[in-house]
Amino acid sequence: MTIYRATVLDTPLDPFTGGVLRAESDIALAVSDGTITARGPFATVRAEAPDDDVIDLRDGILLPGFVDTHVHYPQIRAIGGLGKPLLDWLEHSALPEEAKLHDETYAAQVADEFVHGMTQAGTTSALVFGSHFATAVDALFRSAERSGMRVTSGLVVSDRLLRADLLTTPERAYDESVSLAARWQGHERLRYAVTPRFSYSCSADLLEACGAAYKDIDNAWCTSHVNENVTEVAEVARLFDGSSYVGTYQDHGLLDAHTVLAHNVHPTDAELDILSASRAAVAHCPTSNASLGSGMFPLAGHLKHGVRVAMGTDVGGGTGFSLLKEGLQAYFIQSLLRAQGVSLTPAHLLHLITAAGADALGLRDQAGDLSVGKQFDAVFVAPERNSPLGVGIRHAADPEDALAKIFAMGTPADLARVWINGDLVKQDVV
Ligand code: GUN
Ligand code: ZN
Repeated sequence: MTIYRATVLDTPLDPFTGGVLRAESDIALAVSDGTITARGPFATVRAEAPDDDVIDLRDGILLPGFVDTHVHYPQIRAIGGLGKPLLDWLEHSALPEEAKLHDETYAAQVADEFVHGMTQAGTTSALVFGSHFATAVDALFRSAERSGMRVTSGLVVSDRLLRADLLTTPERAYDESVSLAARWQGHERLRYAVTPRFSYSCSADLLEACGAAYKDIDNAWCTSHVNENVTEVAEVARLFDGSSYVGTYQDHGLLDAHTVLAHNVHPTDAELDILSASRAAVAHCPTSNASLGSGMFPLAGHLKHGVRVAMGTDVGGGTGFSLLKEGLQAYFIQSLLRAQGVSLTPAHLLHLITAAGADALGLRDQAGDLSVGKQFDAVFVAPERNSPLGVGIRHAADPEDALAKIFAMGTPADLARVWINGDLVKQDVV
């Protein structure tokens, strides 16, 4: 057993429904085989376990591991393609890079870079958009397995309107998805997600094949994009004879509590009702929405309709792996929306990048906060003492103020250590 002595901030109770930030100083978390077995005042926990190792983390702040509910593995080398709206960006920035993953050696390198990028940014669980190539999806699962991360991913499928080397057929999409799932679903901390890229690039027959795979793979997840860009939304309505965008997924059995749809910047009220009733979750990806000029996320509407919302970095439409940056950008967008926006506190932001993500991915029994019974997935924020963030935390008025400074100024470089299931996956060289 190991005892971690720290100031711990987390949000076991949802601040969107009355919960508040839980902030406890100089407490101890006892961790055994990756699970938190005790939590309380240091002296009390220590008295129960006088001979166990103590890791002293009092010179920083301990947070739950971050959860990225939407991030593209083949796009790490495409981050930074600014200045184009979605469909142009896909054609000229993202998809030429994605096509390179046809090469298995290339894909294996990208997979390692990608998993490393996530863990170094404090992400301990993720729903990952895979590749159009089954061999590259295997490469991702292999890298994820080595890292210990909780990764849910799958084969991305499309059968129209993208470059030809990324297209498949409904039959092949079904067969390859089912055989990848047979290899990876439920293996260690890995799970399979049926992944139609977006209804724009998927015929009704392909969505039907995805629906069949989703039904046939035990306990599968489903992820895609929805209502991201106004041109894309209009094209989907045309391609599906006026159907709503959310309706294209619902009509093929792809919408339930295991579904996570990215963006949803331009939903109708009727679509928000369907999402709410189905218990599907939405991955809000604010740096991507700003980079691609997609629009400002209507968080108030999602909350009003009871739609579950979590956060994604959407690398490479998004600008990097930092969920702290996504939290700050979410705050900026809601602030710019003024009366139409939601006033987000640091507790809301922390909840969105931890517990809400774990909830969207069905991991709330294991992750999302640092309560007894949860896995020790944690991030230790310990900036250089005299950096603006180091100074800010030292002089913070209270823990909520310290958390605000972490969101305002924190970067992956300020995360001195990261653990998954009690195993260190990042440690600063001292
Ligand atoms: N819609 C379909 N594919 C993509 C993608 O790769 N990134 C984003 N942001 N939206 C998409
Ligand atoms: Zn995306």
